[in-house]
Amino acid sequence: MVLGSEGVRVMESALTARDRVGVQDFVLLENYTSEAAFVENLRRRFKENLIYTYIGSVLVSMNPYKELEIYSRQHMDRYRGVSFFEISPHIYAVSDNAYRSMRTERRDQCILISGESGAGKTEASKKVLQYYAVTCPASEQVQTVKDRLLQSNPVLEAFGNAKTLRNDNSSRFGKYMDVQFDFRGAPVGGHILNYLLEKSRVVHQNHGERNFHIFYQLIEGGEEDLLRRLGLERNPQLYQYLVKGNCPKVSSINDRNEWKVVRKALSIIGFCEEEVEELLNIIASVLHLGNVHFEEEDSGSAAVTTETQIKYLARLLAVDGTLLKEALTHKKITAKGEELMSPLNLEQAASARDALSKAVYGRTFTWLVNKINASLAYKDEVYPTSRSASVIGLLDIYGFEVFQHNSFEQFCINYCNEKLQQLFIELTLKSEQEEYESEGIAWEPVPFFNNKIICDLVEEKFRGIISILDEECLRPGDASDITFLEKLEDTVGGHPHFVTHKLADGKVRKVLGRDEFRLLHYAGEVNYSVNGFLDKNNDLLFRNLKEVMCQSENNIVTQCFDRDELTDKKRPETTATQFKNSLAKLMEILMSKEPSYIRCIKPNDAKQPGRFDEMLIRHQVKYLGLMENLRVRRAGFAYRRRYEVFLQRYKPLCPETWPNWDGRLADGVSTLVKHLGYKPDEFKLGRSKIFIRFPKTLFATEDALEVKKHSIATILQSNWRGYRERSKYQRLRLAAIAIQSWWRGVLDRRRARIRKQAADTIRSFIKGFIYRNHPRCPENEYFLDYVRYSFLMNLRRNLPKNVLDKSWPKPPPALIEASEHLRKMCMQNMVRIYCRKTQPEWKNQMEQKVTASEIFRDKDSYPQSVPKLFVGTRLSTEEINPKVLQALANDKVKYAVAVTKYDRKGYRPRSRQLLLMSTFAVIVEQGKLKQRIDYSALRGISVSSLSDGVFVLHLPFEDKKQKGDVVLQTDHLIEALTKLAISADKVSCVNVSQDSIKFTVGRGKEALIDFTVGPELLITKAKNGHLSVTAPRLNSR
Ligand SMILES: Nc1ncnc2c1ncn2[C@@H]1O[C@H](COP(=O)(O)OP(=O)(O)O)[C@@H](O)[C@H]1O
Ligand SMILES: [Mg+2]
Repeated sequence: MVLGSEGVRVMESALTARDRVGVQDFVLLENYTSEAAFVENLRRRFKENLIYTYIGSVLVSMNPYKELEIYSRQHMDRYRGVSFFEISPHIYAVSDNAYRSMRTERRDQCILISGESGAGKTEASKKVLQYYAVTCPASEQVQTVKDRLLQSNPVLEAFGNAKTLRNDNSSRFGKYMDVQFDFRGAPVGGHILNYLLEKSRVVHQNHGERNFHIFYQLIEGGEEDLLRRLGLERNPQLYQYLVKGNCPKVSSINDRNEWKVVRKALSIIGFCEEEVEELLNIIASVLHLGNVHFEEEDSGSAAVTTETQIKYLARLLAVDGTLLKEALTHKKITAKGEELMSPLNLEQAASARDALSKAVYGRTFTWLVNKINASLAYKDEVYPTSRSASVIGLLDIYGFEVFQHNSFEQFCINYCNEKLQQLFIELTLKSEQEEYESEGIAWEPVPFFNNKIICDLVEEKFRGIISILDEECLRPGDASDITFLEKLEDTVGGHPHFVTHKLADGKVRKVLGRDEFRLLHYAGEVNYSVNGFLDKNNDLLFRNLKEVMCQSENNIVTQCFDRDELTDKKRPETTATQFKNSLAKLMEILMSKEPSYIRCIKPNDAKQPGRFDEMLIRHQVKYLGLMENLRVRRAGFAYRRRYEVFLQRYKPLCPETWPNWDGRLADGVSTLVKHLGYKPDEFKLGRSKIFIRFPKTLFATEDALEVKKHSIATILQSNWRGYRERSKYQRLRLAAIAIQSWWRGVLDRRRARIRKQAADTIRSFIKGFIYRNHPRCPENEYFLDYVRYSFLMNLRRNLPKNVLDKSWPKPPPALIEASEHLRKMCMQNMVRIYCRKTQPEWKNQMEQKVTASEIFRDKDSYPQSVPKLFVGTRLSTEEINPKVLQALANDKVKYAVAVTKYDRKGYRPRSRQLLLMSTFAVIVEQGKLKQRIDYSALRGISVSSLSDGVFVLHLPFEDKKQKGDVVLQTDHLIEALTKLAISADKVSCVNVSQDSIKFTVGRGKEALIDFTVGPELLITKAKNGHLSVTAPRLNSR
């Protein structure tokens, strides 16, 4: 009743267009209480093919009975997202409004389509569905769902619709369909609830009516070999179930085309070939069942005469033919605990057969709906358990129906319409008026007819018609349709909406049969014939027929006939009660959703375009309660909003309420409307809502908001951007902090680990140190290893550089022995390397040096001589007189050195040369060989321990030729004497004297050389006749 929060917006152009033909909204009607004016407005618009008109937000729809160019894609686009009143009334506007309410308010919606049979309800529901299929966002997966949603219609219509007198495509079942939308607003699934199929139509049709479309479609459209398989012929006249109404062909229906549509739809919905085949087997079997005939045997019991039909039936239903035949003509009864087959008479057999046909068809229809539901089921792949879908329900249920003969089906259908009317009253007329009252708005109640009284008459517990019917059905004894009628007269006889022949006065009595009762429905009077009420309500199928069906191998039949049914002793609910209960459930479903209404009106009974039957239309306007609807609407307020909603939406229009109002909501709204310049008669303030009388007031406000929106948008935008950037920054910052702290943690943990390791090392080191002298044990092994290791490392770095280098790191106690080994090895190695590198000359040199060291160790000048290399000779050949060389011709001079010879007498120094030969030495003066000393004759050699160069060669005394020992002096004493000692093999004969040397001076006479330490070298003859030698001390020992 109330506009969606999207609000409404008016445009000048739209306003004028709206008023061009009549009024687009009855609320704008000048004379709104006049029914004539109402109908006149309908007529004017109908003439111009304007079939849609609003009463507020209720859509009144006239059936044009012709195709209008108002359902194109462009039309759909035009209504998308546009406010309700902006453009001309259309079913798309209602659809879109419901959709947007669902999206914005997250509330489930339902669209209730009502009107009598043929008024266009089914067409309207298809238009709504199409609108969603085309305009809603779609993905590939959604596309299949959309296709299936759309294709469920032709299938259900083929099996559940039929031509009636009222409507060539009349729905013979009620349908409530939920379309489920996901959070993006895409249709993602659906679910259908079906209500009471008119099964009696399978076996019987009134004159001018047909059976369900599918039979004709199959016969007209089925391919040759399909028909052959099904044992059918292309002639509906041949089938008893198709000829009762005597109109197998209808000009407005093309069964052959429809067949193609249905076949395609079946495969889109997801039927596989086998399923289609099995389904058609069942349809064909119903036709064959209709052609099963019986004859009366002598005993009076019925027998089947049409064997071929039984054969086909056995094959198509996949049951045992003989069993079926028996079950069709017998009834299983249990007497005294024994099961007996009691034969049926002709009439009973025919009704058993018809009961089977109805059961098979009816259950197959239910199976079909379930199958479609399975294919439409919403499979949420992302959040399988969440109920994320919003729903729009579409109710298209059989409309109010009055025929010449009305039976149980019409009773149920019209009861259903009573219930829907009740719902409409509850949700619109009543609730609206109650709202004014509860809001404390001064209000003059608008009277309206509340049909609750009729609903009660039908459904009340114990006293209602359905209760009485059930009671008659259950009662043992001779209950019949007539006793039921009598019971009705007894129980509800006095009810103002109930009459029978017996109770009626003369005038009514004339038009009421004795087997009829009349109900005064909200939509008019209907006479119901009670014939068949009990049977139809019982909906009985003999047990043995059920048993045969339970054994079927047709998959669909097995699903339809559950074996549990056979063992279940509980009496099933009667048809009427089932229907009553399912309607009660439906009402609950509808009450839980936000409703939109489409009220359909049929313009004439002839299904003709352009014909406006005023009587008929007036009647519908009346019983649909449209006038009351309008009056409530007009007397009341077109729009209402809770204060907080209204304030929230329009607060930008007033500086005091923008951006926030702190005070009471009512005061805020009051301030706001004052600022907007609302006149006192334009609005009322209730307890929690503001009520606005005229649409134009709200339109103007909406327009103002639209203008204002731009500036608000800028503010919002900048705020939003700021907010977004800030939160982005905050996010980044937090992320950085998180990383930082994490990294710091890592670093610190690493550091702590290292520190701990270090501490552990130190600790074990200290412990090791304490235990270092213990034998190896866990406490000290690390320490010992470390000490070892570090010693070896240290050693590696500090190995002796050469053979003379005696340095060696101090080993730890544990390694002393190893160290010693190593040292030796190292030394040996170095020596080995050294030796390998040594040249012969050098070796020679070394030998001489070693000999020198052996001899002169105690001599003062020795240390100085060590680093000075011995040379081959001190005098080259050139420096030696050639005569000498000549004289020594056949001997080679091995070494020559300049010496000073001291005379034996006087110790005068004379410059001489000393030449060492291989077996002797010679002292040479210029060209003369002065003295030859054979090595073998050399008795010894004496030197002092000081640093002087004086030495004495001791010669044998007995040698006459020799003039005694020779005293010589040379600067190269150590070198010369070493060579001499080696050459003469007199190493052991060299004598180092401390203070003096005694020597012989010819013929046994002895002399002395005294050595003293003095500042410098001085060799003189002392007063005592000794040769005195003073030499400086070079080494302090
Ligand atoms: N909007 C429409 N445009 C054209 N024809 C319509 C429209 N609504 C209904 N009809 C015609 O009226 C017939 C009956 O409509 P239908 O919706 O089946 O009625 P209901 O379901 O109310 O009994 C349809 O078969 C169709 O020919
Ligand atoms: Mg219909």
